[in-house]
Amino acid sequence: MSQKKTVYIGPFIQCKTLTDLDICPNGMIGVDEGGRIAFVLRDERGRKIPEGDGWEDAKIVRIQDHGFFFPGFIDTHIHAPQYPNAGIFGKSTLLDWLNTYTFPLESSFADLATASRIYNRVVARTLSHGTTTACYYATVHVPATNLLADICQTRGQRAFVGRVCMHEMSPEYYRDESVETALRDSKACIEHVRKIDPEFDLVTPIITPRFALSCNTESLAALGKLHRELDLPAQTHISENPRECDLVRDLFPESKSYADVYESAGLLTPKMILAHAIHLTEEETALIRARDAKISHCPASNTALTSGRAKVRKMLNAGLNLGLGTDVSGGYTSSILAEAREAVFVSRHVAMDEGDEAKLSVEEALYLATRGGAKVVGLEDRIGGFEVGKMWDAQMIGLEAVGPETTELDQSAGPVEVFGKETWDDLVAKWVYTGDDRSTTAVWVGGRLVHAKEGFRL
Ligand code: GUN
Ligand code: FE
Repeated sequence: MSQKKTVYIGPFIQCKTLTDLDICPNGMIGVDEGGRIAFVLRDERGRKIPEGDGWEDAKIVRIQDHGFFFPGFIDTHIHAPQYPNAGIFGKSTLLDWLNTYTFPLESSFADLATASRIYNRVVARTLSHGTTTACYYATVHVPATNLLADICQTRGQRAFVGRVCMHEMSPEYYRDESVETALRDSKACIEHVRKIDPEFDLVTPIITPRFALSCNTESLAALGKLHRELDLPAQTHISENPRECDLVRDLFPESKSYADVYESAGLLTPKMILAHAIHLTEEETALIRARDAKISHCPASNTALTSGRAKVRKMLNAGLNLGLGTDVSGGYTSSILAEAREAVFVSRHVAMDEGDEAKLSVEEALYLATRGGAKVVGLEDRIGGFEVGKMWDAQMIGLEAVGPETTELDQSAGPVEVFGKETWDDLVAKWVYTGDDRSTTAVWVGGRLVHAKEGFRL
């Protein structure tokens, strides 16, 4: 889709590396008609917009007080149909939670009117939190899964949409009939996305065995074959809950480990996203590293369902690639900003047992939420930061709503250490710890405005 050339003027912040924030107090970013970043200028206050190529006539979008542009968030693991259950989990743990809360709700997506209502809400809501890319699990239902893909396309959210495969250990009222129907229906959903977005510009199908316990050796191998033949991404759960891990050991006795169940099926590849990964052994971590499979860290869910504390620092030190996932509704929040906060706090609980090195900083959590997530979904060349050639998947953050204490921020000097004033680093920390969707003023995906706070005018 062609949009008007646009120049975004004002402070921008992005994650350079895991530990380094790039803070540019006076920036100017040009975005072309295709939604791609054409130029990035720094410290350009007072300078003119570049001449030529029609930039003189470009639309201008300016940051107002105490705001900045930030790359859009990437939710690497979210169950769209579970959105109505966000916050409802009692004292359950994974396996009874699935049977008590999750399967009954997901089964209701046989009804397309229900699917339409909920899926429209979840896509609108995640956009309002600045989630420009989401990796969705849908349900077993083909029409509802196709509808979720349509809604992402219409509302303009970059998305991976997976029809869930589950024929084992699932209730009679909600399951795939057989391995054959699971494969047939998964292929139907892939073909639907091919029809609405042939180049997978915005929406991509993703092969989704729910987890080892929902499948068997035969279906996992068949999905692994499909994954490699079609060169499509895949997603599943791994090592979330101790009882789940015991059952996997019992039911797949021929496999050396949980990770080896996926390895044997040909599913452990650079395009596989593994959610949770809490109770991995060192051998499994090494295997996942060797295969370059990716990890979605879901701290809110891991705490809510008392699944455990993922050892993020250990995984990072082992060279694994991680992003953040809300895992709605194991997780109670659909906000990646809140998830970043949860990641920071869970890491402090790990630190109480294992020492300070385990603590994640605000910068590290933001990296996982953006650039880290981009690697996890295989789009590091297109999203996650503000470089020429990347897509303008971005959010405008305004801090008035959550109240910075100072009006004395030095806009010209960059991060400054001045007592009594807030530095840019302070403001970013305040955003992470106290911000919410009131601070998300506007959101763009591929240069298209996909969300604006009430009252906001461009
Ligand atoms: N394992 C299998 N299914 C699910 C699910 O829906 N949520 C979570 N958190 N774990 C799972
Ligand atoms: Fe999940």
